[in-house]
Amino acid sequence: MRRDQAKDAQDLYDGRSSKYDDSHHPRLARHMAEMADLRPGEHVLDLACGTGLVSFPASTIVGADGSVVGVDISSGMLSQANSRLSKHDLHNVDFYQNSITDLDALEDVKGKQFDAIMCCSALVLLEDAAGALKHWTRYLKPGGRLVTDVTHPMNLAGGTALERVGRRLQRPVPYYREPFQTPEDLRSRMEAVGLRDVEITFLSIQDIPGTEELKDYIVPDFAQPKIQAEYDGADADQVFEEVIGGTAYKDLASPEDVREQAKALFREEWARIADSDGKVRVVDGLFVGKGWK
Ligand SMILES: C[S@@+](CC[C@H](N)C(=O)[O-])C[C@H]1O[C@@H](n2cnc3c(N)ncnc32)[C@H](O)[C@@H]1O
Repeated sequence: MRRDQAKDAQDLYDGRSSKYDDSHHPRLARHMAEMADLRPGEHVLDLACGTGLVSFPASTIVGADGSVVGVDISSGMLSQANSRLSKHDLHNVDFYQNSITDLDALEDVKGKQFDAIMCCSALVLLEDAAGALKHWTRYLKPGGRLVTDVTHPMNLAGGTALERVGRRLQRPVPYYREPFQTPEDLRSRMEAVGLRDVEITFLSIQDIPGTEELKDYIVPDFAQPKIQAEYDGADADQVFEEVIGGTAYKDLASPEDVREQAKALFREEWARIADSDGKVRVVDGLFVGKGWK
């Protein structure tokens, strides 16, 4: 079964758009905008802009002499972004509906180069992340920076196991996290497209009560992640039932015989992702990469 990644994203995020901002995403997106060290007058391309959670803070920083172009495939997410735009007196932000893997199709973007390109919480939704990074780098000015992130492979561990199950059953799920097992995987893909001085930061995702500040979310040591939950091998069936209802996994959830096969393979994959003591540890975190052209 082949997937149409852009259509998958549209289906997933149209359904999530009205509640999307009730999550950790607004804070995370602000942190990513902060990590880009944007300056007044700069021109920013916000890829997979969604409801505009990076675009709006970026537009405040770059100001009237700068600009932000947001691109997303989901009309639901963009309608949230545009409704917010209409409530604010902002003249430096434009949103476009298009795939971020085919920017040449956007007349207003084609041939342009930006000071900063952001892609927050979306790289692992793309089937060919390496190809996308190469495509995007063409849109970066020499001296500009690209900031993007991937989730730690053990974040949403049930989803990681189901991603593998989907591939084994040739009913792939619309997440492509497998290529990013370590921070070095992100670094090497960014360097492969010519980005230099790539810095990887390990950021906590979960809200920490009482603080919004970026510094409090930086996890200092890749080898010592924050553990969000710990499961036993015997918890496989329970976790399977918890995750299989998500829209992303609908091709594994039915018909019944596929679901049963998926459940059996899930037990195997759950055991595979367990640590040597048999525990599956869910990690709170993602890797943010920043590299310069
Ligand atoms: C998790 S949301 C992130 C939104 C925003 N960057 C943020 O940080 O809140 C992922 C977004 O990626 C978009 N997306 C996924 N694949 C896409 C594609 N091929 N082209 C354009 N947008 C895409 C989805 O529509 C969705 O809005």
